[in-house]
Amino acid sequence: MRLLVTGGAGFIGSNFIHLLLSERPDWHIVNLDKLTYAGNLENLRDVKDDERYRFVKGDICDEAAVAQAVGGCDAIVNFAAETHVDRSIMEPDAFLRTDILGTRVLLDAARQGKADTLLQVSTDEVYGSIAQGAADETFSLNASSPYAASKAGADMLCLSYWTTYSTPVVITRGVNNIGPYQYPEKVLPLFVTNALDDIPLPLYGDGMQVRDYTFVDDHCRGILLALEKGQPGEVYNIGAGNEMRNIEMARFLLADIGKPESLIQHVKDRPGHDRRYAVDSAKLRKLGWEPHYDAAEALRATIRWYADNRWWWEPLKSRDLYRDYYRRQYEQR
Ligand code: NAD
Ligand code: TYD
Repeated sequence: MRLLVTGGAGFIGSNFIHLLLSERPDWHIVNLDKLTYAGNLENLRDVKDDERYRFVKGDICDEAAVAQAVGGCDAIVNFAAETHVDRSIMEPDAFLRTDILGTRVLLDAARQGKADTLLQVSTDEVYGSIAQGAADETFSLNASSPYAASKAGADMLCLSYWTTYSTPVVITRGVNNIGPYQYPEKVLPLFVTNALDDIPLPLYGDGMQVRDYTFVDDHCRGILLALEKGQPGEVYNIGAGNEMRNIEMARFLLADIGKPESLIQHVKDRPGHDRRYAVDSAKLRKLGWEPHYDAAEALRATIRWYADNRWWWEPLKSRDLYRDYYRRQYEQR
């Protein structure tokens, strides 16, 4: 198997590449990544010389770059995206471009037979806020943020290619992931690294929003299973059911690190903030998926990794790129 992984220098993509190199020893991987602010080759420094792995710098919106990278590949797994809801609220443009138009370029590569399958890595955010129960794959799409709307657009486009051209696509919709190599703008690495340095944790609104904090390795195993056993034209939700309120998550990590709750700072809420996400993953469980980390285990493993790997996040947090974003996002809150 030869796989084109797009966005492999990001959080989940790099964890996925690590998983493949250890569990599918005869597979070869090409990683096509534009290296935006969220892409970081340090995530893959331990595998960069592995002969089964090759990095190509490029944009999924660039047809020529995609055509070249996909040559000889059997399948594409698309992680490449703009992914941060808060950034999508400030500047939606890049989200529409990469998340929708970039997916179109990959779909056309699959349609032209350059790969047998496209696995589109999507998100539970396409369902919108779920007041009660859990969304299964038949739920209607009800995106709240420009990020979620872009991902929903890409999902619809993928399904349209299956319906219209029989292009083999499989979609996964994962919940909030936590774990190693997550860019420290997202809530978990932001809160953990702030707490380690005695910096306040900016909690949006009342902090009563619920997220299913699933360990990234469990998510990656779900994506791999969907790639190997999923049916074309089908969607598979991936969530461990680790529901937690943000305020509970903040208190848990402060207690674990041994820092005071006075570090929690309630700040102005995010506009259009979804109160709760919850998915029903029975369809993927029927194929054999099960998560190995409950909420406490996922949080502890994540906290331990950031505490042990300052070499990874300290340079990121000291870049002007990061400081400028932090100022724009939090100064007026
Ligand atoms: P991330 O922001 O950490 O990484 C995204 C990667 O894509 C980066 O390496 C970036 O350089 C690359 N990229 C961005 N635009 C590109 C382009 N035009 N061409 C090529 N590469 C480009 O994101 P993540 O958290 O690892 O998410 C990966 C995928 O999983 C996304 O599609 C996201 O929507 C989805 N997802 C994420 C979560 C989560 O909790 N993080 C949950 C469910 C689904
Ligand atoms: P985030 O990691 O941005 O993921 P998403 O919005 O895609 O679920 O945020 C997770 C939750 O944490 C979400 O409810 C918003 C909240 N949050 C804060 O309270 N403070 C913050 O500084 C950030 C970034 C997020």
